[in-house]
Amino acid sequence: MQAVVLVGGEGTRLRPLTLETPKPMVPIMNVPFLERTLVRLKEAGIDDVILPAGYLPAAISSYFGDGARLGLSIKYVIEETPLGTAGAIKNVAQYITGPFFVLNGDVLTSLDLKKMRAVHEEKRGLGVLHLIRVADPSAFGCVVHENNGKVTAFVEKPKREEAPTNEINAGTYLLDPAVLDLIPAGRMVSIERETFPLIVAGPRPLYAYTTDDYWIDLGSPAAYLSAHHNVFDGAMPLGIGQGTNGPGANACEANSCVPPVFIGNRVRIAPDARVGPYVVLGDGCTIGAGASIRNSVLWDDVAVEDGARIDGSIIASRTTVGAHAVVRTGSVIGHGGDVASGSEVEENARVTAG
Ligand code: GTP
Repeated sequence: MQAVVLVGGEGTRLRPLTLETPKPMVPIMNVPFLERTLVRLKEAGIDDVILPAGYLPAAISSYFGDGARLGLSIKYVIEETPLGTAGAIKNVAQYITGPFFVLNGDVLTSLDLKKMRAVHEEKRGLGVLHLIRVADPSAFGCVVHENNGKVTAFVEKPKREEAPTNEINAGTYLLDPAVLDLIPAGRMVSIERETFPLIVAGPRPLYAYTTDDYWIDLGSPAAYLSAHHNVFDGAMPLGIGQGTNGPGANACEANSCVPPVFIGNRVRIAPDARVGPYVVLGDGCTIGAGASIRNSVLWDDVAVEDGARIDGSIIASRTTVGAHAVVRTGSVIGHGGDVASGSEVEENARVTAG
């Protein structure tokens, strides 16, 4: 079976992280998020993957190549201008040979793709949509369906009190190739706003598949930090526990780490630094004497100098947080957005290089 993983978005909500790193290459526990998705596909027996890309595509293709390292065959189809979530699928139509999965490239979930496939084979409709239940559906696309699963309506981002259901589109679809005939070519088309409503108005049904799996849209910095929290707590099963994890865990000496933490390769932590809880350090990070880091994700080669404090923040690769600087909750420091010694970064700040 084939899968189309949509990886062409600009990831504006994750800026400045996504100014140099396309969202699919943003790491989850030090591994590009897309790699975690591709491994999940492979485990479900899906090894023919098509990646419609457009934003910083070389960063993706140079890392994954033809997919052989993961036991996959990967084809890249680059859009000159963004075609939207359905336009991107239409643009790869010539490679589709049968029913195929479509995955939003920014969803982290424990969904069982094999079970979803079995639902499609039983229902034999035009497709199956994965839905999850959320407390507040107002930021999502609500999907209304009958008891037998047949989808009857899509309501995008309703007011909370007007939402017809708390079941939302979770961004994984299994589609029959006949769907491709319903998408116009050569222009921007949204699958949520245009294609799915068109299918619902037509003769062949779409079916809902609602599960209680772990699910998060990694689109925002807050969601990105929550996802790491959820992996540590086991809500998202990635086999990483509450302890001192990662290939560089032995860098935690003399009680310098407060679990849970995940430590990359070649990391150096001063014995009297305090790292954790809920901290991820990428490869090559150095943490100076007396520095303190909590609830934060640092990418590769971040230097945290003596006495610096970082709380609830995300720091991109090759960045220095100077001695005794303070980075307050909710901040996002982009690649090379060095923080000067002794300075303070306010809550929820966005810092870019220069
Ligand atoms: P924001 O700009 O922060 O909203 O993020 P985004 O650009 O990723 O948009 P969104 O979260 O709505 O996209 C959902 C998924 O579809 C993501 O995996 C995107 O990479 C992908 N996507 C969105 N638009 C396009 C497009 O025009 N072409 C392709 N190939 N993928 C797209």
